[in-house]
Amino acid sequence: MSELLKEVARRRTFAIISHPDAGKTTITEKLLLFGGAIQLAGSVKGRKAARHATSDWMAMEKERGISVTSSVMQFPYKGRMVNLLDTPGHEDFSEDTYRTLTAVDSALMVIDAAKGVEERTIKLMEVCRLRDTPIMSFINKLDREGREPIELLDEVEDVLKIECAPITWPIGMGKRFKGVYHLGTDTIHLYAPAHGGRIQAGELIQGLDSPRLDEVLSGQADELREEIELVQGASHAFALETYLQGRQTPVFFGSAINNFGVAELLDGFVEWAPPPQPRATAEREVGPLETPFTGFVFKIQANMDPQHRDRIAFVRVCSGEFERGMKLRQVRLGKDVKISDALTFMASDREHVENAYAGDIIGIHNHGTIRIGDTFTQGEDLQFTGIPNFAPELFRRAQLRDPLKMKALQKGLTQLCEEGATQLYRPLDNNDLILGAVGVLQFEVVAQRLRDEYSVDCVFEAVNVNTARWVSCADERKLREFREKASTHLALDHGGDLVYIAPTRVNLQMTQERWPDIEFHATREHG
Ligand code: G4P
Repeated sequence: MSELLKEVARRRTFAIISHPDAGKTTITEKLLLFGGAIQLAGSVKGRKAARHATSDWMAMEKERGISVTSSVMQFPYKGRMVNLLDTPGHEDFSEDTYRTLTAVDSALMVIDAAKGVEERTIKLMEVCRLRDTPIMSFINKLDREGREPIELLDEVEDVLKIECAPITWPIGMGKRFKGVYHLGTDTIHLYAPAHGGRIQAGELIQGLDSPRLDEVLSGQADELREEIELVQGASHAFALETYLQGRQTPVFFGSAINNFGVAELLDGFVEWAPPPQPRATAEREVGPLETPFTGFVFKIQANMDPQHRDRIAFVRVCSGEFERGMKLRQVRLGKDVKISDALTFMASDREHVENAYAGDIIGIHNHGTIRIGDTFTQGEDLQFTGIPNFAPELFRRAQLRDPLKMKALQKGLTQLCEEGATQLYRPLDNNDLILGAVGVLQFEVVAQRLRDEYSVDCVFEAVNVNTARWVSCADERKLREFREKASTHLALDHGGDLVYIAPTRVNLQMTQERWPDIEFHATREHG
């Protein structure tokens, strides 16, 4: 087998989707523990990370003193190489989450057993469905009283419209929680709470009819046997193909905080989750085993390391092999650049990458020329598709407290807007700096980060903008005319693209009617 084939075949790249508080951070920590990325939770001290309201990793590091500093984690497990991509928990950052989901091959859905399917899970599931992303499920917090497992599966099937195939089944819950039964291997794993860094705990019993089961569970053993018979009759059997098509989700039960049921999940994950998949470009489909390198930028993050003031573009590798020092073409600019200092994202620290394959994420330093959605190749003109930017719905004008800081403010806003969560508009006719965002929290985060990372004190105040549209026109003369006539409502975004900023919806509509040749776009497919 070729090296490329071997490496690609063992990659598994995924993200966790869940409603806040379901246990995403906790389960991430446990997965990393299994991957050997953290030896003992709380005991590994690492590089101090940037304070970052947008990242759960940062909060986790702050709270628990663990070195989990980036938004991409790579760890080996049972011969596989797992890449776990963080998605921000707060809904005001859903755009970022959306784009991260374009960079994975599968997802893990975490559900709180007491709460069932929650609103944000529904939304994220819709996003996954756009690309038929295969989804595995973990029903968490069985150590607490929750809802009946069968009822939870019914809810997932009804609300999320996906078949459930239980792989493990809980034995009781809350105070009566005794462990999980693996339907595939016919093994009972007895519950033993394992806080902190213990990897595996609890006795394993082979066979549902083992007398050992009656010894340890007494009356609950027969209850379990009956229940399993019922479950096997009433639920779907796991079908790999159906899972890979995104129509069935294998379901695991457990308690993340007690590190229980997570091993079963991870074993199932590395066995069944899909390896790197082909990706669509505007020109053709790119297969992961093609030898020339290709990849696309799905995320940009400024100041991950405040000491270095770096801005990192996260590139999902789609084909070929990345080697340090390689020359890559940034297709949008038609420019070849030598990538000498790409980063990889091991859980404990960022390390210089030697080689990366399809499914891996590499970090490239951005000096303001890279945008979300950019494609990198070894020369072929390709543009990966499906990585949009949405027009923001909320607008504020940046107001400086110290007018002498104007340059720093412009720099800060430009760099933070490269991350894609907010958009910066500079009107053609005045010197305002208008920030557009999808959620209110983003203004607070930007203000805070401007203070922390750029020493700029500014507030965001109301501005007479209701909506924004990227504009384009095939006829250059018409576009010039529009630019002159409508300049009071036109601005350039941080990437230099022309945007119509409308004071009202009615104004937008009227302008669209008056200028039928001009196209108004609510999303920008970068490029
Ligand atoms: P999130 O990233 O999805 O938002 O969830 P996170 O892991 O932060 O977990 C949310 C809360 O649920 C945390 O409690 C966490 O300890 C708890 N939790 C996670 N898994 C389990 C579990 O298996 N059983 C129980 N009983 N609780 C669980 P918290 O009080 O918000 O924080 P903390 O003070 O416990 O850290």
